Amino acid sequence: IKNNYDTLSLWTAYYIMTRINRYCPTKEKPFVIGLPTGSSPLGVYKKLVEYYNSGKVSFENVVTFNMDEYVGLPKQHNQSYYYFMYENFFNHIDILTENINMLDGCANNLKHECERYEKKIIQVGGIDLFLGGVGTDGHIAFNEPGSSLASRTRIKTLCEETIKSNSRFFDNINVPRFALTVGLGTIMDSREVLIIISGFHKAHALKECLEGNVNNTWTITLLQHHKQCIIGCDKEATRELKVKTVDYFKNLQKIT
Ligand code: GLP
Repeated sequence: IKNNYDTLSLWTAYYIMTRINRYCPTKEKPFVIGLPTGSSPLGVYKKLVEYYNSGKVSFENVVTFNMDEYVGLPKQHNQSYYYFMYENFFNHIDILTENINMLDGCANNLKHECERYEKKIIQVGGIDLFLGGVGTDGHIAFNEPGSSLASRTRIKTLCEETIKSNSRFFDNINVPRFALTVGLGTIMDSREVLIIISGFHKAHALKECLEGNVNNTWTITLLQHHKQCIIGCDKEATRELKVKTVDYFKNLQKIT
């Protein structure tokens, strides 16, 4: 639990940098990271670029897999996740283009595109660390309420709440209704998961995540079953939690 968005971003970026550096990635044994878009990771990307610029980390032997992409939105569209990633991260670091993996929402055969992605993840040896955010309704990647807890990368129909919340980015017209997304099973297969949750509007999602039961309405709850999962949050996001839950995690933090 960090005081605010900035300290949460700083902590998360430092954690990722440390993970990469300790792993000592090489061309033969790259560090594989799953990445999200959205406002939550922006501060983390900014900080990681700073670390790169000051020579503290290199992404030369890092392989990335993005979580999701809208269906039917060309790469050059300024709301595509492809555009977002290059604009906010990839253009500013030394990552090799061939190490960047993103779902193509304009592929001729979307089913094959999803299968290709799953195979590629296996080919590189699986994901070492999956970074993610969460929707206000508790979804991770685009695993909307009702998603199968065993789902793999697939086409997903976006729910009304997500479409509504995205409409501001599309001037309320032609808001995408479908997306390609890694599945909950895909995320669960990663060796480590790190979710960042910031702001009061995410407080209910954090409450379900920590105090709720595992269910497919709040898909983030599945992470309770993950063997190595960290939830990084700010104080605002904890406002729906029980005092004893907050105290429990604060104490853990002190000890570790
Ligand atoms: C979208 C993305 C998610 C992201 C969520 C929250 O649904 N597919 O990966 O976590 O939005 O976005 P934000 O961080 O902007 O609140």
